[in-house]
Amino acid sequence: MGENRKSVLRIALQKSGRLAEGSDQLLTKCGIKVKSRSNQLVTCDDSFGIEFLFVRDDDIPGMIESGVCDIGIFGENLLREYVSRSVVQVSKLETILPLGFSKCRLSLAAPKEFPYSKLSDLNGKVIATSYPNTLRNFLNASNIEANVVTMHGSVELACHIGVADLICDLVSSGATLYENALKEILTISQSEAVLVQAQAPLNSYKSKLVEKLVLRIKGVQAASKSKYIMLHLERDKIDQLAGILPGCETPTILDLKGFPTKVAVHVVSQEDVFWETVENLKGIGASSLLVMPIDKMIS
Ligand code: PRP
Ligand code: ZN
Repeated sequence: MGENRKSVLRIALQKSGRLAEGSDQLLTKCGIKVKSRSNQLVTCDDSFGIEFLFVRDDDIPGMIESGVCDIGIFGENLLREYVSRSVVQVSKLETILPLGFSKCRLSLAAPKEFPYSKLSDLNGKVIATSYPNTLRNFLNASNIEANVVTMHGSVELACHIGVADLICDLVSSGATLYENALKEILTISQSEAVLVQAQAPLNSYKSKLVEKLVLRIKGVQAASKSKYIMLHLERDKIDQLAGILPGCETPTILDLKGFPTKVAVHVVSQEDVFWETVENLKGIGASSLLVMPIDKMIS
């Protein structure tokens, strides 16, 4: 196994949960097959030379730092918590790329009836969280003296069972807070999934694979925002397109047989195309409009 590990890039992924879904979708779009997680800790995609380790997201930062795996996908919130675990913040991990999914925020929340108007209302209170380091840093920076209680799950129940006055937890849709009759008081930090590696350099084989993966992810990210648009337009209206379609500086203009005053325009828009844009295009006489998703985009 020791020899084999040198030639395979090991990536740690969340075993199950929101991050797992997002990671699978992204890697699939990158042409990497994430084989089923059912009861297997390790699987691999031989064609890419990558091995997957399915673990609890909370364990991923430590596994990268210790070299058990080379890279990993987990939440920025967890990275922040991990690197601020000691007073002297020495990060041995670095973000390669933000991934744009699993967006959430770390927020303070309290039972609906909790009176809150200003930060100093938190003085002397007990706050339960799975992110004690991030919370303590925030409290210190805000000159608040509060007691932090660490919980590793079910934080949203802490107030109801009398463990804490407030909680500090991740909020995404807000459904968990709502279901537990809690109100969000303030946001401490924003988060999304990130691709992370150790600061210590990888061997050249592995770093080339990481480069290849990053290129693919960037291609997927660029494509997901962009659209390929085809339309017919009077030739003298072409100049007006730039004001309507973002990224329309260099459209492809094609003759339309039998219609000398009209052209076909093909353009890649760098932004999503909304109904307003379509209506504006109709406004300058565009017809036969097609807006298509782009699968891959490599510049
Ligand atoms: C987070 C958090 C809440 C929930 C909030 O847990 O601890 O329970 O999500 O999301 P909502 O606002 O959409 O209801 P998550 O599922 O990320 O699991 P983990 O923190 O235990 O890994
Ligand atoms: Zn977790």
